[in-house]
Amino acid sequence: MSQENTGSFIDLIEAHRGSQYALHQEYINPAFVRMLKAIGFDKNYTRGEGAYLWDAQGNQYLDLLTGWGVFMLGRNHPRLRTVLKEMLDAQSPNLVRMDCSILSGLVAKALVEHMPEGLWRVFFTNSGTESVEGAIKFARCCTARQKIVYCHNGFHGLTTGSLSVNGAEFFRERFGELSPGTIEIPFNDLPALERALAAKDVAAFILEPIQGKTCEVVADGYLLEAQRLCRNAGSLLIVDEVQTGMGRTGKWFGFQHWDGVEPDMVCVAKGLSGGFVPVGAIICKSRIMETVFNSMERCVVHSNTFGQNDLAMAAAMASIQVIEDEHLVENAAELGAYAIDRLTQIGKSCPFVTAVRGKGLMFGIDFGRPSGTLKLRLAWDALHKLNFGVFGQMIVVPLLQKHRILTQVAGYHTEVIKFLPPLVVTRADVDWFLAAMEDTLADTQRIPGAAWDTVMGLAKNVVRVG
Ligand SMILES: Cc1ncc(COP(=O)(O)O)c(C=O)c1O
Repeated sequence: MSQENTGSFIDLIEAHRGSQYALHQEYINPAFVRMLKAIGFDKNYTRGEGAYLWDAQGNQYLDLLTGWGVFMLGRNHPRLRTVLKEMLDAQSPNLVRMDCSILSGLVAKALVEHMPEGLWRVFFTNSGTESVEGAIKFARCCTARQKIVYCHNGFHGLTTGSLSVNGAEFFRERFGELSPGTIEIPFNDLPALERALAAKDVAAFILEPIQGKTCEVVADGYLLEAQRLCRNAGSLLIVDEVQTGMGRTGKWFGFQHWDGVEPDMVCVAKGLSGGFVPVGAIICKSRIMETVFNSMERCVVHSNTFGQNDLAMAAAMASIQVIEDEHLVENAAELGAYAIDRLTQIGKSCPFVTAVRGKGLMFGIDFGRPSGTLKLRLAWDALHKLNFGVFGQMIVVPLLQKHRILTQVAGYHTEVIKFLPPLVVTRADVDWFLAAMEDTLADTQRIPGAAWDTVMGLAKNVVRVG
């Protein structure tokens, strides 16, 4: 071992503090670094705890992005740290492969306990997209059909199979031919679903109960009727709960907001990890697993090397326990309702706001061309002539620079800002956010003003970079 590698591992990080942007510029993704710098998001964060981040100057930030939704429990939850340290010290017989691990059995049982009554089985994955890939394979195997129906604006991950059911052209273009036999329908459109299923040749319908890209929620009654249509057509219903699951929306799983909904497969990931170790799962009806793994010969016909590894399983088990013990689902329901209600009120004073929508601690604010004041309409048009989708930066940038709140636009080519607070967020945190939004929305109406100057500059810059 070289002299340089014998000290504390943390010393290695400390010795290179501040060099991360140059390293990424040179070795990882220069376009990403350019984007971060363009909007002033290169903050050099040095610590994370609970709902907060700190930068090198000691400034505290409220994190409403939560690593795209993984930090349900906040960052570095003490229980997760203890459990993971215990696991490391236990020298467990990890990933024996030709054996069954205790921990994965316990996590599967704990997950199934939060499903509706019935026979459920669990397949463990390492990410959200892998859960979706597996669910698509299982559906095709189980029905001996090829087609998969998905929704416009749907997002299920970016590997080839998941990308084949991605409802946004932006992500698909330039990546060649994807998996055949996929059919896009509008979100929340039951007649379109009925037509897509009519030939009884569809393996499955996959959807998010709340779309990550738009924060659109399925209409009341939609899922139950979709389930009936799927059953009549012999198709499986896959609910992608990668973002909405594990308490995020104020129920353990988003589909549980509507009585009687019992999907055939449920995809999870993100929050199951506690933010520490990548892990995901497909929770499905036992008959599906029995069809896929229908003989000893085929008992690992779908598998992965790292699935069920002890650190991931320990993180998952501890995360489920913390969500239960700290009543985080209830907190998401209560504070989410409060935040959505207050944000809706605040939004009424801003002519650019077209909607506030979501459930629990997954909600968004949507912006559109104002119908009232001519001055605001002209400004909107001038900006959109330069660049569609930059308006959101007029919210996201001051939220970080002025109010120290980390957020992001919900997706490419959208005017929706999505908020994904950790489930441990407090009412004081939500009030911090609401006051910041009130101020930021007021600034959008000052023309000329600093907010518009910034965003016009960005729009011109992005055009030049692109
Ligand atoms: C609903 C949904 N499904 C799947 C994925 C993909 O998950 P991952 O990034 O872990 O592959 C995401 C990620 O944002 C998601 O929101």
